Amino acid sequence: MSNKIVIGADHGAYELKAEIIKHLENRGFSIKNMGVDSADSVDYPDMAEITCKEYFKGNYDFGIVCCGTGIGISISANKVDGIRCALPQNKFGAEMSKVHNNANFIAFGGRIEYHDSVNDMIDAYIDAKFEGGRHQRRVDKIMGLE
Ligand code: RB5
Repeated sequence: MSNKIVIGADHGAYELKAEIIKHLENRGFSIKNMGVDSADSVDYPDMAEITCKEYFKGNYDFGIVCCGTGIGISISANKVDGIRCALPQNKFGAEMSKVHNNANFIAFGGRIEYHDSVNDMIDAYIDAKFEGGRHQRRVDKIMGLE
């Protein structure tokens, strides 16, 4: 574990991104912020691309991408070879995205009202452990689809 996390967002989630960064820094992580940091409109596929490319350059533990719903930026991240980006809806989904899917990215929506807080979901993901075994076989099959 490098204790490094890379994060990027579009204008629909720059405030959420700031909250996530504060939370993760309080947990002792070092955060690489790929932007954006204002409401000025950008295209979420561009933010996904630069964040995913940085992930492969920088020995990060995992990456986070956010947009208004989390949908467009997670779809975009999953087009990048080597990325398995989860879009969890609650703490259970966040935990299982590591335990079963070994997701290396998680996505959230700045305009979504979640039942569990985004920071609680991130904690559930970070504190979970990939089970391997039959799940490794399935993850290998996912990656074989690239
Ligand atoms: C931008 O208006 C919005 O479409 C984007 O943030 C995201 O919700 C797309 O999936």
